[in-house]
Amino acid sequence: MGRANLAGGPFQWKSCDRHVPSRPPFQGKSRAFCRVRGPELRPKARSRTLRVSNLGSLTAPHRFCLKSAETTLRPVHTVHDDIERILISEQEIRAGIDRIALEITSAYHERDFTVVAVLKGSCVFASDLIRRIPVPLELAFLAASSYGKGTTSQDLRINFVPLDSEIAGRNLLLVDDILDTGRTLVRLKREMLDRGAKEVRTCVLLDKPSRRSVDFEADFRCFEVQDLFVVGYGLDFAGRYRNLPYVGALKTAAFERLQGAR
Ligand code: IMP
Ligand code: MG
Repeated sequence: MGRANLAGGPFQWKSCDRHVPSRPPFQGKSRAFCRVRGPELRPKARSRTLRVSNLGSLTAPHRFCLKSAETTLRPVHTVHDDIERILISEQEIRAGIDRIALEITSAYHERDFTVVAVLKGSCVFASDLIRRIPVPLELAFLAASSYGKGTTSQDLRINFVPLDSEIAGRNLLLVDDILDTGRTLVRLKREMLDRGAKEVRTCVLLDKPSRRSVDFEADFRCFEVQDLFVVGYGLDFAGRYRNLPYVGALKTAAFERLQGAR
């Protein structure tokens, strides 16, 4: 069993059972991540990162190894394969974040504030956002999750909140991935104020106004989206797809596969 990032994308292969050294003649620019498994191999030889210029320059045993790999190469399934279409590209996200980072910077100009990232969904967004805000800020985390496995947010469980000393008397900016029905942010805002926050504002990457069930608007938002379940850039379905660098719509087959797996 092996994996390699050769030209054309990531691949995996079976029956690669030779020791593969990491020294020359593995030289050059293309990069191959080669994981070799087998009980007969020394532990250190089981996982290697190799740089390979071309297969022709390899010596005999290595050529054997990579040639047998070549014959059974097949693409690895990636999270990108499950995306029906990209709704907001990486470039668009960058531009959107730049825009609200400016708004936030002028709103908190010369005022201390704490960005409270709502985990897990906002982790990617919040970490990109704070690096575009050049004024002093503090960072805190809060974890909230909805019960249930579907594509609609249900009852909310608050798993942890920042220390009271991080809340009391502070100006807080709650940062979440998406404003859907609005129940999460209404509840979290109330919780922070009850714990003594001086002021609580909210910021979201995405806003689905058509789904709102309570009267609530975010103070800062990057993008409005239709009533459609989206994944990527921190947003998940069944715990997956947070690592996509863009926001996209899932293929029906992926929904069905993951729902069936649970
Ligand atoms: P709300 O309480 O209905 O506003 O729900 C907000 C939470 O529901 C978000 O923080 C997400 O975790 C989740 N959510 C809502 N819509 C989506 C979506 O389209 N994709 C992924 N998660 C979503
Ligand atoms: Mg969330």
